[in-house]
Amino acid sequence: MARLEYSKVVLEHFKNPRNVGEMDDADGVGTVGNPVCGDMMELSIKVADNKIEDIKFRTFGCASAIATTSMLTEIVKGMSLEDAENVKWADVVKGLESLPPVKVHCSLLAVDALKAALYEFYKSKGIEREDLKPKEEEEDDHHGDSEKACGPLV
Ligand code: FES
Repeated sequence: MARLEYSKVVLEHFKNPRNVGEMDDADGVGTVGNPVCGDMMELSIKVADNKIEDIKFRTFGCASAIATTSMLTEIVKGMSLEDAENVKWADVVKGLESLPPVKVHCSLLAVDALKAALYEFYKSKGIEREDLKPKEEEEDDHHGDSEKACGPLV
């Protein structure tokens, strides 16, 4: 079985993930995941002055899910809501320098969790943002076949 090569930044974020935890007074909490590979992500945001003032995450996920979400939280903390909703998985991967292709879907999970948190925030304000609404699990094709999507164990 091939061993995946991770960048130093990925390994550093995996070993020392930023912004891990729960948030008692969150303005939006997004929970996404896929029962096929078992990875789950919960991401909470605190909003002030139309910006992400604070952000926390918890995950039952792989090393890449932890590292990509840690990097995502660093990228969007302090960012306007408009800019945050436009952050792409490629921005996260760029921040990490690289990610094995078979693990790119882990960065999608992080971005989806952020969008879900933003969706819940807007919903609490009476604004229905269909474009941020989490997909139903059966429509979620991030993982597909778990063995193919998750790749070799690390
Ligand atoms: S999110 Fe990393 S293996 Fe599915």
